[in-house]
Amino acid sequence: MYSSVGVQPQPQPPYMDNSSDGNLVAKNKALNDEQIYQWISELVTGTNRERALLELGKKREQYDDLALVLWNSFGVMTVLLEEIISVYPFLNPPILTASVSNRVCNALALLQCVASNHQTRALFLKANLPLYLYPFLSTDARQRSFEYLRLTSLGVVGALVKNDTPEVINFLLTTEIVPLCLNIMEISSELSKTVAIFILQKILLDDQGLAYICTTYERFHTVASVLAKMIDHLSAANSQLPSNSSGRLLKHVVRCYMRLSDNLEARRALATILPEPLRDGTFSIILQDDIATKRCLAQLLSNINDQQ
Ligand code: TRP
Repeated sequence: MYSSVGVQPQPQPPYMDNSSDGNLVAKNKALNDEQIYQWISELVTGTNRERALLELGKKREQYDDLALVLWNSFGVMTVLLEEIISVYPFLNPPILTASVSNRVCNALALLQCVASNHQTRALFLKANLPLYLYPFLSTDARQRSFEYLRLTSLGVVGALVKNDTPEVINFLLTTEIVPLCLNIMEISSELSKTVAIFILQKILLDDQGLAYICTTYERFHTVASVLAKMIDHLSAANSQLPSNSSGRLLKHVVRCYMRLSDNLEARRALATILPEPLRDGTFSIILQDDIATKRCLAQLLSNINDQQ
């Protein structure tokens, strides 16, 4: 079609998509949605940026290519960064209001969209954009506005790690996200804890991630201590009322321990420091229907027993 030698083929316009149902494909492209451009222009130059953030966020689920449109539209990423940076002054002392928090979370939702897309993910990392979220992740305040901010920021990092790309893990390791996740696993709500431990688990599952955490006893020990505290909480909660959400957390905790036990030194240490509730059947009711986690726990215990 566009076949002069040495010239890259042009991307096909949507209506020329090879799909059997051209209309459907065209409909599913943000590229063809006039409204998107109106909101983008409102976002960049208009007077109602807050509404534009909200409306664009609503379109997130609808289109696979919204990330591409956001990334490539002049001024959008700059506006999103501006939104983020403008909130820094409210972090310390912690005076973030609910409405400011909501607004920046809408901006973060758009960042998450860019972080999720496989075509924009590498660009997102190359521009060091996750670093702008670290001030949010390192807040300690317990107010809802801060809780929501941490949860939404974690969502962006969660979207990055979801697809198991070593480049993402490498980036995160060089930027010290692990201590931030550990802190959130200690102080935040159950939902934030779950996303934070999901990120930790993804890091551990990567060979370099595991090596990074097991490089010094101190690192290993910090991680193991936070996991142990979570087990403490879960077993206290379990004796009152076992719940689905604590089952979800427990599942991640077990997988993190199990993965740590793949490292020989960590395995040796775990033989002595693995919390008792994981050994004595405390969680057998919660795990009743979760065969995969039960198996994982059994494997962990067997790895550890091999040591003794
Ligand atoms: N600078 C610290 C280190 O490299 C970062 C850190 C703190 C850390 N706690 C951790 C890294 C726990 C891994 C695990 O050790």
